[in-house]
Amino acid sequence: MKLNKGIMRLAQISMPYFDILLEQLRMGNPAVQKAFGRHVHWGYWANPAEADGSVEDFAVAAENLCQRVYAAASVNEHEQLLDAGCGFGGTIASLNEQFKNLDMIGLNIDPRQLDRARQEIKPLANNKITFVEGDACQLPFADGSMDVVLALECIFHFPNREEFLQEAKRVLRPGGRLGICDFVSTPIFKTLQQVVNTFTKPVISGTFGRSDSCFTVSDYRTLAQKTGFQLTTQEDITRHTLPTYPVVCDLFDQAGYPKAVRDVAAVEKISQVGLLRYFILSFTKVPT
Ligand SMILES: C[S@@+](CC[C@H](N)C(=O)[O-])C[C@H]1O[C@@H](n2cnc3c(N)ncnc32)[C@H](O)[C@@H]1O
Repeated sequence: MKLNKGIMRLAQISMPYFDILLEQLRMGNPAVQKAFGRHVHWGYWANPAEADGSVEDFAVAAENLCQRVYAAASVNEHEQLLDAGCGFGGTIASLNEQFKNLDMIGLNIDPRQLDRARQEIKPLANNKITFVEGDACQLPFADGSMDVVLALECIFHFPNREEFLQEAKRVLRPGGRLGICDFVSTPIFKTLQQVVNTFTKPVISGTFGRSDSCFTVSDYRTLAQKTGFQLTTQEDITRHTLPTYPVVCDLFDQAGYPKAVRDVAAVEKISQVGLLRYFILSFTKVPT
């Protein structure tokens, strides 16, 4: 029997940190609920020196980050929007509070996360919200059906960045926008990872699962050209995200996951020395 590619990928995907988060949410851990019950991404602090290390402060910073990404994609009322890799639906929840008359679809490969999103988020202000299970590299939507596609802090998990950009381009109407945030390598770190392929993967995959950050901003520019996009925003926000690490390390520590603490601390070190950067990028589909 021929198995659907998407079902095979779903069976293969493993994101141990989501198993931890779902377990902690099920147990009613209030700190995890505050920090990751809505958004599951890093925070943005306009002034990182003002970060106070609390989960409350982190939750505000996570909301700030998501608003910056959808601002980069210039979301407008009356648009049809897809959030690929939507987590617990935090970005859709935020858009739902800020806009009216939006038609939003959250797509995720993990049905457990979608169950939570459906329970937590109800449409406001004439918005429409649908959550769909699927693979971001095989989007179950018609050509030209979206005005905006978002993908926050998830592309490194996807099977292939090029397949995702091709799919995003296919489902966007001409002139449609793609907004993302992603960990990107400096060229030297990319080379390091390629030369010593074992450098980071075994270190962090036990917590983060499959993740590929062997991609530079220049690679994004080349990929945009190849897939029919114009790169319209490239904002390096690394320093604005750094206060995330101590908060996440504390959370995992207090919940009793020492391996996750070590893995997050390893990513913190690579980010602090500037080898791994955090970018907001946006693209416009070039009309053909
Ligand atoms: C770090 S979380 C980000 C979640 C959400 N975007 C947010 O910012 O709160 C990564 C997300 O990507 C999803 N994901 C991973 N691989 C995927 C794929 N192939 N297709 C769709 N979603 C995927 C995960 O299930 C998870 O929800």
